[in-house]
Amino acid sequence: MISDEPNPNRRPIASALVRQNIYDTSENSTQGRESDSAAFHIIMSKQSMKPRNDDVVSRYDDYVMPIWKTLNVPIKHASNCVVEDYNGNEYLDVFSGISVTNVGHNNEAVVEAAKSQLDKFVHGCSYVHPNQTVAELGERLAEVTPGKLAKSFFCNSGTEAVEGAIKLARKHTGSKEVIALEMGFHGRTLGSLSLTGNSAYKKEMAPTINDVAHVAPPYAYRCQMCDGGFCSCACAEELERVIGTHTSGDLAAVIVEPVMGEGGIIVPPEGWLQRVKEITHNHGGLLIVDEVQTGYGRTGELFAVDHFDTVPDIMSQAKGIANGLPLGAFTAPAEIANSFEPGDHLSTFGGNPVACAAALATIDELQDGIVENARDQGVWLGEQLATLEDEFDVVGDTRGLGLMYGVELVDPKSGTDPMDVAPDPDPTLAKHIGERLRDQGIVMGIGGYHKNVIRFQPPLTIKRDQLQRAVSGLRTALEVEIA
Ligand SMILES: Cc1ncc(COP(=O)(O)O)c(C=O)c1O
Repeated sequence: MISDEPNPNRRPIASALVRQNIYDTSENSTQGRESDSAAFHIIMSKQSMKPRNDDVVSRYDDYVMPIWKTLNVPIKHASNCVVEDYNGNEYLDVFSGISVTNVGHNNEAVVEAAKSQLDKFVHGCSYVHPNQTVAELGERLAEVTPGKLAKSFFCNSGTEAVEGAIKLARKHTGSKEVIALEMGFHGRTLGSLSLTGNSAYKKEMAPTINDVAHVAPPYAYRCQMCDGGFCSCACAEELERVIGTHTSGDLAAVIVEPVMGEGGIIVPPEGWLQRVKEITHNHGGLLIVDEVQTGYGRTGELFAVDHFDTVPDIMSQAKGIANGLPLGAFTAPAEIANSFEPGDHLSTFGGNPVACAAALATIDELQDGIVENARDQGVWLGEQLATLEDEFDVVGDTRGLGLMYGVELVDPKSGTDPMDVAPDPDPTLAKHIGERLRDQGIVMGIGGYHKNVIRFQPPLTIKRDQLQRAVSGLRTALEVEIA
């Protein structure tokens, strides 16, 4: 039982006079200190605080809920593709804060746009006080998103964008059931969690929302259906079977990532997305494509659906949209979007004008050669990573699009059972590789359903020599680990 005892560490808020002195380390700045001894303590601790990595991490231990991972690099400062920790170490960032800072950390144009909006006003609730910045971003999204996607709802994160998209699909179709991909990821709030196809994220958190079923992902490397042979897109046809067996026929939506991110950078075969859309429509549902991770240039097109010539009915976005300012959105054609009536949806902070100003600048930056850079560097990266497959038995598969690449690590001695289509995943090796990369000053993601995929998702501004360093860092880490 948690006790109701008062918190002995609780301090009064410092007076204005004292607060004013907090960051002033000059000798004359003692005025007002004696009047407030607790605040004086704050001043002293802040003045003497030159945080090191350990200080930051130990405060996290004490004051931040313990959900963060051990493969951490504290950030004091970041610029383009380089982050610096509190001990003065520099790292090449090949993960972009989970695929977010697509136009580079602290991109000057984005920072300037946000600052300029900050000078005008920060908040008015964009659904109570219409403002020019949100209007402009809505119009801009209508221009840059595919097909007839035209009207957006702005929120603050990916999971909210996904949940809003589900609400809209239900409202528009009048149906309830939703199908998502096994191993897919759509967020961690309870609605999105129900769609996320990974029990590891759901343990001890259920029940989530009802009426969700899952279908096999287009995971060629471990596909039981085509058994490593010619891909017949059987996984798309599986949708038909799952609708028939796992639903009551009241289909509101099918939601998919066009390239699966957290599941392990899984690129679907040609024709898969079109067929999924066709089957979904045949059953009266809408196709929601979750571009939260793949959007804003990540795959070498502004949106990943552009690779697959498929226009979704609703598209969710977040992460790269404002290059690190918290913003999410879902966008639909007018005839779908207009199913929402006043009061059906809202968010106090959604469409914050500072974040929307940053998004406008991000889109401008992306259209100034950065998406092309992602495409070009991605082609080179894909070729380099493919050579690792030949060099190392533990590299089972490499795959990706643009600057979203995964290297799947396996135990080459396994996989001898006739039912196995690929060797067993090796998450321990992946963890060690991540640590060895960090020791070389390179931050890379580790992910995948089996936690055995090394993720290349750098800022899209990355230069060839930096990417070269990342690839040779991975090669060195592999050499050391298998020696
Ligand atoms: C495809 C996809 N959808 C949704 C989310 C959830 O986004 P957020 O963490 O902003 O809620 C993520 C996060 O990784 C994601 O990759």
